[in-house]
Amino acid sequence: MTELRTSYSQDHSARDGLEADRIFTSHFNRLALDPLTPDHVEILDTTLRDGEQTPGVALSMDDKIRIAQLLDDLGVDVIEAGFPRTSPGEQEAIRKISSLKLRAKVCGLARCSREDIDSAVDNGVDYVHTFIATSEGHMKNKLKMSREQVKARAVDAVEYARSRGVIVEFSCEDGTRTELDFLKEMHIAVQEAGVHKINLPDTVGTMSPPAMEYLVSEVMKVTKVPLSIHCHDDFGLAVANSLAAVRKGARQVHVCVNGLGERAGNAALEEVVMGLLAFMNVRTNVETRKLGMTSRAVARMTGVPIPDTKAIVGNNAFAHESGIHVHGVLKDPSTYEAFSPELVGMQRNIVMGKHTGAHSVKEKLSEYGIILPEEMLSTVVSKIKTLAESGKEVDDAELVALALHIQGQVNKEHQHVKLKEFTVFTGMNITPTSTVVIEVDGKLVRSSDVGIGPVDAALNAIRTAVSENISLVEYRLNAITGGSDALCEVTVKLKMNGDQKVMSVGKSIGSDIVLTSVNAAMDAVDRLLGRQKS
Ligand code: KIV
Ligand code: ZN
Repeated sequence: MTELRTSYSQDHSARDGLEADRIFTSHFNRLALDPLTPDHVEILDTTLRDGEQTPGVALSMDDKIRIAQLLDDLGVDVIEAGFPRTSPGEQEAIRKISSLKLRAKVCGLARCSREDIDSAVDNGVDYVHTFIATSEGHMKNKLKMSREQVKARAVDAVEYARSRGVIVEFSCEDGTRTELDFLKEMHIAVQEAGVHKINLPDTVGTMSPPAMEYLVSEVMKVTKVPLSIHCHDDFGLAVANSLAAVRKGARQVHVCVNGLGERAGNAALEEVVMGLLAFMNVRTNVETRKLGMTSRAVARMTGVPIPDTKAIVGNNAFAHESGIHVHGVLKDPSTYEAFSPELVGMQRNIVMGKHTGAHSVKEKLSEYGIILPEEMLSTVVSKIKTLAESGKEVDDAELVALALHIQGQVNKEHQHVKLKEFTVFTGMNITPTSTVVIEVDGKLVRSSDVGIGPVDAALNAIRTAVSENISLVEYRLNAITGGSDALCEVTVKLKMNGDQKVMSVGKSIGSDIVLTSVNAAMDAVDRLLGRQKS
């Protein structure tokens, strides 16, 4: 009987080195390994070609060069730098990228035409990817060519590209909707013509993983050169289909950073690389630690943002909010993480929100050297929840400010003034008016006053209630973070008239400017009375 590991965090028997104690995938993956799977696959990145075909994306020359350098540094084997026949700008980009003398091979896309192939080779590439459609629909409606004509074109293109001294990869476009006998016939013909690699495109993303396994197994019967796979994501299965193809023997995968590409995109580089490693122990030359940075750089240059929930590189990929999850992750990351964020150049993020528990707050505050007793901690937690319920997430700066504020408030030994009631009326064509009821040393005092705005009216009402001798020295308002719902910090400086030495400063933090100002003023008044009495 096969022995199953019960501890998923121990399931790294198939891996070694750096990843051994950082990947925590299900033990069932090991039971599903296939002997046809290679140990290593090459990565052809087509961000600069299929990725640039993403609707709305148009990269500048500088950005193309920068992306090529990033991809080379990441460790991809082949960079498909463009489709040179499409424009002089595309040719210039390919020429410049080829002249960088990168470690990766630089590839140009070409239809099965000698002009297209010349356009790639004459601009300096060392690798040509030539293609022609082979499905019945594409041949009849688009090419208006017979099978024999298509095959002859492909053979001529491969022979010609070979004669120009470059590496030649050939694709049957719409290969996954091509009749199997013709697909095999094409693979045999281009191999006889001297092709180095054959790519199988799922051009319209119409395959499922079991169908891909079947098709690759069939095609492998006649394909003796390395088989490559190129999947589109129309059903969200591009990565799964790419892994299925590798499982049955494909030795190269076409990818785009962040899953860019025509329509719903291509298989995402970062997901393919991590999926191959984590589920099948298949290596690539990609340095996984650079995935996060590469993804962010490409998002910035293409203007296509990374969705928060995107696997591997999304903002939320390693974010934990709920108390139960945070508690688990802090004890053992494998509890709620499939692999360590550092492995892909990301960071764990403990998010403060309505599901936050004391554990997360304690842990986060300790990063800032703040240690709160249990009661204060639970006050901070309930404040966070209240803010979250009104739609506000609390970031680190806000959390620290909140904690320090609560610490300051609770640490006060004695309160001389307590705010019991507060109202303010404001609007257009009315004088802002505020009424407060304040307990001053045990006695309730009610007072109303006006001001030039709601904050001014409120501060005046407080002063009138407590002492006419108090005057405002300074009022400062800081937004701790941006956005109309951000937390603000208010500082109020007061003095007792006639005696310059008696001054006080009060601070408060909250999401309502007027209420926060009132709380800051009450804090300042309390300190002022305390100082006067001491
Ligand atoms: O999706 C596709 O078929 C392509 C070809 C050019 C290979 O991108
Ligand atoms: Zn494509």
